Amino acid sequence: MGRVFSGVQPTGNIHLGNYLGAIKQFVDLQDENDCIYCIVDLHAITVEQDPKELREHILDVAALYLAVGIDPKKSIVFVQSKVPQHAELGWLLTCYSYTGELSRMTQFKDKGKGRESVPTGLFMYPTLMAADILLYDTEIVPVGIDQKQHIEITRDLCNRINNKYGEVFVEPDGRFLKEGAKIMALDDPTKKMSKSAANELSKIGLLDDDAKIKKAIMKATTDSEGIVKYDMDNKPGISNLINIYTAFSDLSVEEIEKKYDGVGYGQFKKDLVEVLINGLKPIREKFHEIRNSDELISVLDDGAKRAEAIATEVLKRAYNKIGLGY
Ligand code: TYM
Repeated sequence: MGRVFSGVQPTGNIHLGNYLGAIKQFVDLQDENDCIYCIVDLHAITVEQDPKELREHILDVAALYLAVGIDPKKSIVFVQSKVPQHAELGWLLTCYSYTGELSRMTQFKDKGKGRESVPTGLFMYPTLMAADILLYDTEIVPVGIDQKQHIEITRDLCNRINNKYGEVFVEPDGRFLKEGAKIMALDDPTKKMSKSAANELSKIGLLDDDAKIKKAIMKATTDSEGIVKYDMDNKPGISNLINIYTAFSDLSVEEIEKKYDGVGYGQFKKDLVEVLINGLKPIREKFHEIRNSDELISVLDDGAKRAEAIATEVLKRAYNKIGLGY
């Protein structure tokens, strides 16, 4: 039994990349582990947000967590800003981080590209994320591969502080899936599927309707060979679709290749549409059932209380070791 922590930003409709890279693992891990899943709203404000939409998106992600199968009886589900220790430990870790390492973060470089001045929150994003993780003595962090660098800096901060003060934090490890770790954009399989992409057909949201799912898959970029074969380097488009197919069916990559041997992309895509529509329908139905329920709020209230109880102890340990307070 290990302590698991992960988080998702409340920015819009959660897409297949978020689901297959991270959230599906959340569900798989909860039977054997002690899991804590967060909606990281403090991270969301590192870019501009509309207050009304932000509130809606927080509850959307919370409802999606439950809709995909996170069970609040097994896992803690809560909203980051409801547990003030995140911001407190975030500050503490900021004091032990260096501008050099923070400016090497690829996510920061991407988001700040071409701007003379960048919001400080965007720069400090990784120290707040490290706080999220270290605050719960986390051992396992299930995430997509795009978060690898953030996990590394979390480990560095953990070791830096432990080396200085003795055992303060538990050293966490990332958990990345082999096949879903990076789901690519449907219109351009050299880029990752991203919430911020302008082309709606580049991504499929868990709440998208059947017509949108069909359109995005049928228009997805492949290649001119017409051979359904997994080869991420040379055939990234079809390989990405095979990753999605295998995640939503009980067929392995090899079984899919065999099934479509000599059949071509048209039939493969039509079947994938069906597999996806069938896979996402129950999630959508469950989402609508709980999104506006009192149950959702009480799950979040209860989750925040339970999370805060753990966070308080860990933060106290850190303050004592460092000599803060009196
Ligand atoms: P966020 O909200 O951007 O994404 C949520 C999760 O989805 C994964 N992901 C993907 N996986 C595969 N293919 C993709 N195309 C894809 N796009 C996104 C992400 O890797 C992530 O696991 N920094 C985090 C949020 C965070 C966090 C944390 C995570 C804040 N504190 C503490 C873990 C632990 C983020 O921006 O995720």
